[in-house]
Amino acid sequence: MAGSDRGHRGPERRKQNRRGGADRRAGERRRGFDRRTEREWEPVRLDDVRDAANDEPALVAAAIDARTHARARFSHFHVGAALEIVTGEVVTGCNVENATYGLTICAERVALFKALSDGHDLFTRIVVVADTDDPTPPCGACRQLLWEYCGDIEVVLANLSEVKKRLRLSELLPFPFDARLL
Ligand code: THU
Repeated sequence: MAGSDRGHRGPERRKQNRRGGADRRAGERRRGFDRRTEREWEPVRLDDVRDAANDEPALVAAAIDARTHARARFSHFHVGAALEIVTGEVVTGCNVENATYGLTICAERVALFKALSDGHDLFTRIVVVADTDDPTPPCGACRQLLWEYCGDIEVVLANLSEVKKRLRLSELLPFPFDARLL
């Protein structure tokens, strides 16, 4: 599989490909990034994305449906997520809690890990749904992992009846640490 040696580049290659922090992402706030190699973050071709893009209401509906599977017996806070792949496929997740509390996994990470373990690599959008008036943004851990594996995707925050907020992941995680800094 492409990128199976991911993260095992030698020190020379690593240095060679290092780019300046703030400059790196200037002008790159587009929809979908190719994170398959750590050398560059190539924007996903917009034509491909446009062809494959789902209607936002369909993505929200997928997240609402996923939310019905939430295992949230401790917080009673049920969350659903729908992660859009560049191909147009949608992978969903719900939060999964457990009695130790700390091992809880958020809906966003469940969707991300499902998608990664199915071999998906290029992501364009994530919808997060909770039954609240205020939008429910991804937690810090989810922001970090979404950033590392998805890049600057669009984040759509909705409740059961409407979209409350749309933003880019870079707005939620403006000064990130990632593999390119190692
Ligand atoms: N949770 C999510 O699944 N996603 C979020 O964006 C925020 C929080 C979950 C984790 C936990 O099961 C419950 O909501 C309360 O924090």
